[in-house]
Amino acid sequence: MTSLVFDLADEDATAALAAKVAGWLRAGDMLALRGDLGAGKSAFCRALIRHLADDPAEEVPSPTFTLVQQYDHLSPPLWHFDLYRLTDPAEVVELGWEEAVQDCALVEWPDRLGPLMPPDRLDIDITITGPDSRRATLTGRGKWAARLAEVA
Ligand SMILES: Nc1ncnc2c1ncn2[C@@H]1O[C@H](COP(=O)(O)OP(=O)(O)O)[C@@H](O)[C@H]1O
Ligand SMILES: [Mg+2]
Repeated sequence: MTSLVFDLADEDATAALAAKVAGWLRAGDMLALRGDLGAGKSAFCRALIRHLADDPAEEVPSPTFTLVQQYDHLSPPLWHFDLYRLTDPAEVVELGWEEAVQDCALVEWPDRLGPLMPPDRLDIDITITGPDSRRATLTGRGKWAARLAEVA
């Protein structure tokens, strides 16, 4: 299993990594973002979505309360989930999970998926290393293991 580690000096560095990852995405992909509250999972997703939209002003509201925000106009169409408040994996099916995994899913708090966790995914673990610095560890799971080695 190969992991890639990125030391991110500031939020711009996080945005640059998000833009790089955005370039790898295809329909059917899932990114699982883990890290403490305030680690930068949402900041990473916002930068990724703005890069795909080619619009630094693209509205990217946090899905904290809605659990999901859809970006149908992007290619691939993208679903941004924050499952912190999910109580039962069945709930995510009602939110459109089946469709989301055919498009592209960015998922904060992915472990809430329980048995619905896709085996093929890119894990992105973010840790806080200082006030403005972060460490991101990317690990390809399933089909993503070989893909990560190819694209990176
Ligand atoms: N290098 C960095 N990468 C990402 N966020 C950073 C970084 N440095 C500082 N921050 C700040 O940390 C916070 C991250 O918040 P957020 O993205 O909402 O975290 P999470 O979604 O993981 O709870 C934001 O206030 C952001 O400005
Ligand atoms: Mg968040």
